[in-house]
Parts: sequence; C-alpha cells; structure tokens
Amino acid sequence: MQRKIWINGSYVNWEDAQVHILSHSHQRGSLIFGFIPIFENDGVVSLFRLNDHVDRLFTSCATAGIPLDYSPEDIQLAIKDTVRKNPGSKFAKISVYISSIEIDVVPQEPFSTVAIAAYEPQEDIISKNTQPFHTSKELSVWLEKEKHQRRHDIIPPQVKIAGNYTSSMIAKWQARKNGYDEIIFTDEEGYITEAPTSNVFIVNRDNVLLTAPEEDVLFGITRKSILEIAEFENIVTKVERIPATELENAKEIFLTSSSHLVCPIIKIDNRPINNGISGIITNRLRDRFLRISKNEDSSYSSWLEVI
Ligand SMILES: Cc1ncc(COP(=O)(O)O)c(C=O)c1O
Repeated sequence: MQRKIWINGSYVNWEDAQVHILSHSHQRGSLIFGFIPIFENDGVVSLFRLNDHVDRLFTSCATAGIPLDYSPEDIQLAIKDTVRKNPGSKFAKISVYISSIEIDVVPQEPFSTVAIAAYEPQEDIISKNTQPFHTSKELSVWLEKEKHQRRHDIIPPQVKIAGNYTSSMIAKWQARKNGYDEIIFTDEEGYITEAPTSNVFIVNRDNVLLTAPEEDVLFGITRKSILEIAEFENIVTKVERIPATELENAKEIFLTSSSHLVCPIIKIDNRPINNGISGIITNRLRDRFLRISKNEDSSYSSWLEVI
C-alpha cells in the first residue's frame, strides 16, 4: 500500500517525507511527538482518546517552547483525514519539529513543521527490515540501577520530546545485549518512575495497585485509562512514589503504553514474578481494556473517536 504522509497540509508519498540533515530537530532532538492507537471494529475505524493525545502534544510543545501554528481542532481533523487516506493503519504518529536549518542550540528562526503518518508497523516497517524485530508479549525486565531517567531539573518528564529518549535508548540497548526485553528506571532517590516508553504498575501483597505520580512520569494515556478502569472495577489504587523494594515484593507488575496496551512483566532481574505468569488483576484490567478497544463496552465508547 502506498502510504501518504500529511506534512503541513499536503500529502507526500512515504519515501518522500524527508527532513534536512541540518534541521534543528534532527541535530538537537527537539522533535515533539504523539503516537495514537487505531482500532477497527466491523469496518468502523476509530482513534483511541484522540482529544487526550492531542492535548498532550500541545502541552509538550508549549512546555518546551516549540512553536505550533495549528489549533488542536486543525490537528485532530488532519489526523482523522490521514487515517482515512491510509486504510489498514494501526497507529498514527504525529511529529512537530523545527525544520529550519540552524547553527545554534537556540534556533534563530524556529520554523516548525507538523507531519502525520498513519501506518501498520508490521507491514510498513518491520517486514522491510532484514533483522528480526525484538518482540515479546510477556516481558523479562532489568531494573536499571545506575542510570536515572527523566530528571525534572533538565526536562520535565511530561514533555514527549525526542531528546528525552536518548538516555533510555542507551540503557535499554545495553539491557537487550544482556538478554532482557525491557528496563524500568528509578529516580535519583531510588523511587520507580517508568520504562523508556511505558508506565509501570505494581500489584502489591495487599492487592493494591500502585503507580508513580504524574509529576515523575509521562502522562500516559493508557496509564490514565487503566486508573479509570481500576476505579470502575473497585480495585484499590495508590498513586504515589514507589520505592524500588516494592518490585521485590510485587505480586504482579505490568507496563502500559499505546503500542502494547497492557503488557505483563513475568521476570525482574531474572527473578520470576507471580511464578512467571500474568496475574489476576493484570488480566482483569487488560481484558477490560481489550473489550473497550473492540467497542464491546458501551460505558467507554466515548474513548473511541470514530474517524
Ligand atoms: C516515557 C513514556 N512513558 C509512558 C508512555 C506511555 O504513554 P501512552 O500510554 O500515552 O502511550 C510513553 C509512550 O510513548 C513514554 O514515551
């Protein structure tokens, strides 16, 4: 399928969507992005919590000072149109980047570009690579003990900006070489924050669901959804700083993200969690989330924005 990418209001072919090598975002990591799941049910295509994703994109741009010359409504319409133009897509990726050619770290003429791609990862990207893609439905995880992620004094963790991902790339790459699927970070004081591209949830021995507070992590839209579902399901939840020792006592651990939705962790530092199988609360939350994504739960149909 010839994918079309929306760039500042015009469509270009996938292979023609390029940036200049000297553009600010390419050189300095100043690209803000969003990644939205697309669900198709009986031929009806919808974007998951489109408003929330677009809000987060605008907040990230405003916090980092990246200019954005569109309104949220313009961007929502453009995302929907791009999804319509690219049938069979499973995700929409929105990038806002400083495309002007710059010398200094502070851009002199910050001209930003918005690009929206909608695609099916397996068909459009993975199948074209020669190396096998690392994937796992149940994760073996390394708790990163030395590198801390997302220092508030450098970049607020809530900003979804490319430069914020380089430290996690380095740490996760090393963990992969050591045989793990994924890593979890702590902050400088040893409290659990998040994984490179997902939020962390723990079920403790008292069946309380724990996750780190919003100040310390990216405002995951899946995280927010899981917290709302947990409340609906009467699962006791605490949103608070979690010492890393909680991982040792955890009954269940799972990650949430737009790419993997709810993903159980079955091993931490090679130690099995819940005897190496996905836990009861994890499954309950994941199953309800999947039903919502299939539009089988009318209480949550407003989360699906039909295109
Ligand atoms: C650092 C980080 N935390 C958490 C998440 C999960 O957020 P969401 O559920 O909105 O995909 C992401 C998603 O990319 C992320 O990059």
